[in-house]
Amino acid sequence: MALNMTNNTVLTTKNISKIYPNALDSICIFKDVNFTLNAGDIVALMGPSGSGKTSFLNILGLLDTPTDGELFINGISTKYMSDTDKTKLRANNIGFVFQFHHLLPDFTAIENVMLPLLKQNISSKEAKQRANSLLSSMLLGNRCNHYPSMLSGGEQQRVAIARAIACNPSILIADEPTGNLDKNTAMEIFNIMTNLANEQKIAIILATHDNNLYSNISNKIKIENQGIVKEYS
Ligand SMILES: Nc1ncnc2c1ncn2[C@@H]1O[C@H](COP(=O)(O)OP(=O)(O)OP(=O)(O)O)[C@@H](O)[C@H]1O
Ligand SMILES: [Mg+2]
Repeated sequence: MALNMTNNTVLTTKNISKIYPNALDSICIFKDVNFTLNAGDIVALMGPSGSGKTSFLNILGLLDTPTDGELFINGISTKYMSDTDKTKLRANNIGFVFQFHHLLPDFTAIENVMLPLLKQNISSKEAKQRANSLLSSMLLGNRCNHYPSMLSGGEQQRVAIARAIACNPSILIADEPTGNLDKNTAMEIFNIMTNLANEQKIAIILATHDNNLYSNISNKIKIENQGIVKEYS
């Protein structure tokens, strides 16, 4: 089967399926899913609780493997890749944002953003400059030395986004990034993501329960009947 890839394609799945084995019977979450994400895309992944959004995103982000099928990141097949190579590929290409920010509580905002850069052996001076400029771009230049507990929910999530894009990923995977925020703050986070897709051409897929908030995303997909279907608004 030919892959639906262009020069802009950053992620493709070829007939991926996810089945969770169970003591009594196994559960098939989705089957033979073909999905393509291009640079600058922003895609909303919809579906009720338990439909498989997190399962799908974990596979796209190399945190889990499909039961069948193949995942390509920037044209590279991940099927027979070692865990070490997957970790490298993930660190270089993929950023994550979750519902709960998962910032390290004992590190300041700037230190949280610097950590992935330091792991990539970037000097601490350079890491600090980059973290500082990322936090400033999220309008948090005056919050660099705050610990996560000293930040509001929206500010914590902006730090989490800065951390997720610190290593210039081509893909940003967001699993209900606004699930814990009020309506206005959720829209603020959503606008930041839209700008990242439009201006930096980061390909973004974000899972959400919220049908209203993302009404301005034209690419919407839903997990339904063990497949991914396009949603039209
Ligand atoms: N490790 C696992 N082992 C077995 N079953 C699992 C596992 N992880 C998830 N499931 C099941 O797979 C289904 C999909 O779960 P998933 O977390 O992907 O849904 P979701 O759409 O993200 O839900 P939510 O909106 O509540 O976050 C659920 O029925 C869940 O119980
Ligand atoms: Mg989920």
